[in-house]
Amino acid sequence: MQKTFYKLLIFLGEKVKKITVKDFCDMKSGARKISMLTAYDASMSHLLDTAGVDALLVGDSLGMVVLGYDSTVPVTMEEMLHHAGAVSRGAERALVIGDMPFGSYQVSVERAVANGVRFLKEARCDCVKLEGGEEVCDAVRGLVRAGVPVMGHIGLTPQTAGQLGGFKVQGKDMATARKLLAEAKALQEAGVFGIVLEAVPAPLAEIITQAVAVPTVGIGAGAGCDGQVLVTNDMLGLFEKFTPKFVKQYCNLAPDIKNAVQSFIQEVETGTFPGIEHSFASKEDFSSLSDALKEE
Ligand code: KIV
Repeated sequence: MQKTFYKLLIFLGEKVKKITVKDFCDMKSGARKISMLTAYDASMSHLLDTAGVDALLVGDSLGMVVLGYDSTVPVTMEEMLHHAGAVSRGAERALVIGDMPFGSYQVSVERAVANGVRFLKEARCDCVKLEGGEEVCDAVRGLVRAGVPVMGHIGLTPQTAGQLGGFKVQGKDMATARKLLAEAKALQEAGVFGIVLEAVPAPLAEIITQAVAVPTVGIGAGAGCDGQVLVTNDMLGLFEKFTPKFVKQYCNLAPDIKNAVQSFIQEVETGTFPGIEHSFASKEDFSSLSDALKEE
């Protein structure tokens, strides 16, 4: 209902009300859950935004689904800012979250703050996200003190997946479950406004969600979170390398794209594209030009 309302506003050319960090936090106690998707460029950002998604994460998954790296580790600040700027320009309503890449917040609190500020000043993001528990709390405090709203990310943290033994579900036994709960509380204490829970058993994610006052957004963490996030390229069937178990593919665009491209190739090769309707005419008679060429 609400989504139809702002689609109507967009249609009428009315200014859409931007979702703020406070609105996002208020959704914790709201009747509906938070929807969040990743975006890496302005046109996809515009599509997702006008479809009504609440938050757009410029994830460092950029590295794998867009830039062709084999992990998120090589992604740089410059790459993130370049894409985050495009996403901010494409979105009017959604909260835009810039994902801090590996190495941009671990070296020192000063470096973390300087990099976080760049996401707001240069890429016009509304806030940032970073991965980790207790070890990143000083950085979170520094960023929040500097006026940069921060979202936490615990459970499976892809930037340090090697340390976690690979891309595996986290918190499956009592000891690691307790650790995750403690991390969520520590992040909240440090000042995060929300927490992504990735690849965590559903009952544990529900307990963490109830234990913290800030919204939790799950990815592979069951239905008990306050919201859900997916990598857009996964849920649209655009990323063919692998699909994690927790991804629901809402459509499968890769075969459609390949079919369209094969039709284009075939029409170009046989000369059926472009047709008259895709070409420009002129009132001018150009035959004198070709006659002159023949005489050369
Ligand atoms: O980078 C990313 O896309 C993420 C999501 C998986 C939450 O961090």
